[in-house]
Amino acid sequence: MAPVKNICCIGAGYVGGPTCAVIAYKCHDIKVTICDINANRIDAWMSDKLPIYEPGLDEIVFSRRGKNLFFSTNVDKHIQEADLIFVSVNTPTKKQGLGAGMAADLAYVEAATRRIAQVSTSSKIVVEKSTVPCRTAESMRAILEANCTPHVSFDILSNPEFLAEGTAVADLLNPDRVLIGSLQTESGKIAQAALADVYAHWIPRENIITTNLWSSELSKLAANALLAQRISSINALSAVCEATGADVDEVAYACGRDSRIGSKFLKASVGFGGSCFQKDILNLVYLSTQLNLPEVADYWMQVYTMNEYQKNRFVRTIINTLFNTITGKKIAVLGFAFKKDTGDTRESAAITLIKSFLQENARVAIYDPKVEKEQIYLDLSEPGVLDNRQQVERGVHICASAYEAAKDADALVIVTEWDEFRHLDYSRIYKDMHKPAFVFDGRLMLDAPALRNMGFKVHVIGKNSLEGRA
Ligand code: NAI
Repeated sequence: MAPVKNICCIGAGYVGGPTCAVIAYKCHDIKVTICDINANRIDAWMSDKLPIYEPGLDEIVFSRRGKNLFFSTNVDKHIQEADLIFVSVNTPTKKQGLGAGMAADLAYVEAATRRIAQVSTSSKIVVEKSTVPCRTAESMRAILEANCTPHVSFDILSNPEFLAEGTAVADLLNPDRVLIGSLQTESGKIAQAALADVYAHWIPRENIITTNLWSSELSKLAANALLAQRISSINALSAVCEATGADVDEVAYACGRDSRIGSKFLKASVGFGGSCFQKDILNLVYLSTQLNLPEVADYWMQVYTMNEYQKNRFVRTIINTLFNTITGKKIAVLGFAFKKDTGDTRESAAITLIKSFLQENARVAIYDPKVEKEQIYLDLSEPGVLDNRQQVERGVHICASAYEAAKDADALVIVTEWDEFRHLDYSRIYKDMHKPAFVFDGRLMLDAPALRNMGFKVHVIGKNSLEGRA
C-alpha cells in the first residue's frame, strides 16, 4: 500500500484537534485536514484563540496551520480527498431510549460513517478514534459495505486515543503506547501497517502495539475503567482515613511504594470528572450486562457509585461543618474545570457540588482561571436539574479572582487543583472572610498546618483534620 499522504479527521474536538495537529506537526509530508459540522468550532481553530486550552497546543497549531494543517466545514470534500480518515466524533452517554444513562450514543459515529460511504469515490482506511463499545467496527463495516459505490472498499482500524486533557500535547508527542487494532486479514494488516508508519514518524516502533480489532476497542474501555477504579479505591480509603485518624496521603505513599501497585493515580480527591471516565465505565457496565455478565457489570458499577458517594460525602461534610446549614451563606468555589490545565468542564465534580449548594440556598462565588462565565451558567442550568437560568444567575456569582470569590465568604472550597491556588495570599483571604473561616480542600493541595496557623478551620479529604487529630 502507498504511504498515507492525505488525512481527514472528522470531529475537531478535544481529541481530533490536538491529535491531528500533532500528526501534521510531526509529518510534514502528510496533508491533514480537521473537519467539523460545527462552524464556530472550525472558525475558532482558524483564529488566534483556539477553541480548547491545552498547554503547548497553540505553538503546534500555529506552526503548521496553512502549511500541511487545515480546518474545514467541508466534510464531504475532505473525505473524498483523503486516503485515511479518523472518526473522532463525540460518543456521549445515551440520554434516552434503550440503554439510556449507560450505553454510548453511537449516532454521531454512525452519521459520520454513512457520510464516508456516501461520498467516497476511492478506497480508504477508516480509523475509529472515538471511544466506542467493543465490536462497533463491525457495525461500521456493515454500513460502509451496504452504502458504498462499486469498486470502493474500506479497511477499518481501531486506534483509540489515550491522551489526557491538560497534558494532551505532551502525551501525543511522547505516548506510553499507540494502539492499532485491525481485522487479521491481509488487507487489514496492510492498513494497520500504513497507520503505524504515520506514527513511526516520531514514535519508536516498539511503542506501537498492534492487536486484533476487538482487543483494541476493549482496551480503551478497560484502560479508563482501571484508571477510574484506582481513584475510587483511594477515595473509598479516604473515608476510612477520616473515620480513623489515618492520613490518606501517607497511606497512598506507603502502598504506592510497592512496585506491584505503583504510585500513580493514587491521589484522593473530591472525585473524578471529565468526559471519559464516567461515560466509559457506564459503557463497560452496559456492555457486560448485554453480554449476560451481571457480576462483571456490578463490579465496575461500584467504581461509578463510589465516585458519586465521594462527591456527596464532601458536600455533607461541608454542610455539617458549617453548623448544619449553608442557607444564605456564601461559599467560594475555587476551580470549575474537571482538572487543572484544561477549560473542559464536562462531568466536573464542581457541577455536582455547586448544584447541591444551590439546593441548600447557599450563595456561590466561583473563580476558575480558564472556564468562561457562559459555560459555567450553561453547566449549572441544565434542564431538569435547576429549571431556569435566572435561578442559577441569582445564586451564583462568577468572579475574576480567587480574592473576589473569597470576600465575605463563610467557606472556601478547593475543587480544581490549579497550581495558582497553592500560591494565593491566604492571610489576605483570611482577613476578608467571615469567621470562623473554613477551608475545604477537595484536592489535598494546600498547606493545611500553615492555614491553621493563620486561623482557618481546615478540612482536607482523607485526613481527620478539623479535629486536628494527629
Ligand atoms: P468533542 O465533543 O470535543 O468533539 C467531537 C466533535 O465531533 C464535535 O466538535 C462535533 O461537532 C463533531 N462531530 C460530531 N458529528 C460529526 C459529523 N458527522 N461530522 C463532523 N463533525 C462531527 O469530543 P472529544 O472530547 O474530542 O471526544 C471524541 C471522542 O474521543 C469520544 O469518543 C471520546 O470518548 C474520545 N476520547 C476523548 C478524550 C478526551 O480527553 N476528551 C480522550 C480519549 C478519547
